[in-house]
Amino acid sequence: MLNGKKIVLGVTGGIAAYKAATLCSKLVQKGADVHVIMTASATQFITELTLQTLTRNAVYTDTFDEREPAVVSHINLADMADLVLVAPATANVIAKMAHGMADDMLTTTLLATTAPVMIAPAMNVHMYDHPAVKHNMNLLAERGTLMIEPGEGLLACGYVGKGRLEEPETIVDVVERFFAQRDAREGIQESLQGRMPRKDLLLDGKKVVVTAGGTIERIDPVRYITNDSSGKMGFAIAAAARDLGADVKLVTGNTQAQPPENVEIIPVQSAQDMYEAVAQEWDGADIVIKAAAVADYRPKEVYMEKIKKKGDTLSLELVKNIDILETLGKRKTHQYLIGFAAETQSLEMYAREKLERKNCDLIVANDVTRSGAGFGTDTNAVHIYDRDGLVEELELMSKEEVAHRLLRIAAERIAGRN
Ligand code: CTP
Repeated sequence: MLNGKKIVLGVTGGIAAYKAATLCSKLVQKGADVHVIMTASATQFITELTLQTLTRNAVYTDTFDEREPAVVSHINLADMADLVLVAPATANVIAKMAHGMADDMLTTTLLATTAPVMIAPAMNVHMYDHPAVKHNMNLLAERGTLMIEPGEGLLACGYVGKGRLEEPETIVDVVERFFAQRDAREGIQESLQGRMPRKDLLLDGKKVVVTAGGTIERIDPVRYITNDSSGKMGFAIAAAARDLGADVKLVTGNTQAQPPENVEIIPVQSAQDMYEAVAQEWDGADIVIKAAAVADYRPKEVYMEKIKKKGDTLSLELVKNIDILETLGKRKTHQYLIGFAAETQSLEMYAREKLERKNCDLIVANDVTRSGAGFGTDTNAVHIYDRDGLVEELELMSKEEVAHRLLRIAAERIAGRN
């Protein structure tokens, strides 16, 4: 996904600098051409040789160490970059960037570049909360610097709180998403100007409806039944469809994840709400993807007042919900319908049975007991079936990658059908 992208990676001097090795390795594995600039403090935590070996490119630490007479290194790096990523970014480098200082190789390159800049801060929780750091980060954000917020947890200094460098896998995901969106935007612009056929925009002009998250089935005003769905798979599909040029409507139930930008979001609660929202979009839809985890049953009675505690037991009677996918399958005309099957056993048998019963064109089956696959994770491992059997087995990979691969299959099949 990062093939040929030139990334200048600035590594600054915090303990999280050791994670730069994993970050370099993962970026290189994705096909990026990574050029590292380290500050003098960063070299106290990790060696130049490590990052040079992982990137197979020279590592820069000193503005005046000009190795090639034909070029000025910091200008050359600044010009070649498709993205300058600073990870970890210390409070010190953030302050220097905010105030336009250029007293070492990294900050000089950062001033000289016109490429997008992304920073992943890492520091002690009190430093992160300091008004000076906040002010500097706001200045950078206003200027368009992209931020990868630090995670929360046990910090190397012993404190628990916000300040831990985001995991390298997540940083790579953000970088991939950044390029996917940028390339899609540029593709749209170039094709509008007639310079490039929209060959990569496989879903150009298609209307795609995606459902995501779990439904909420009310018991009373303060209680409900839901499930573990995080919404991440559906969100990744919506983002990938958008990046492939589709007009996306995202019908979303209960989720913990951040919804993608530039897609129309239709929030819903219950299975019935979700059905009504999807039914509204059905006639105009080209592709409908049901990644949501829909509750099969709902409480027969929804109490208008909070249920008071009484006896030792309480029975709730549940009644069956509408099966949205099955209902849509019966009404299918031109729509390409993709379902999901979350299974804990006999994956292929159950998934193919659902595909037939719900009249889907494809079914994405995942074994939710497998580690790294299914609910809540950032990765998934799926088998995609059609009526004739296995179409593709996707080994453990990011949900973004699964989404792109799934949509490519759908797009090719729709193109073939037409
Ligand atoms: N689905 C739906 N409406 C329901 C239940 C499920 O639209 N009431 C959809 C899901 O969004 C998914 C597919 O059907 O795309 C399969 O969902 P899953 O929970 O795996 O299967 P169920 O049909 O609910 O069967 P079971 O719970 O017995 O596995």
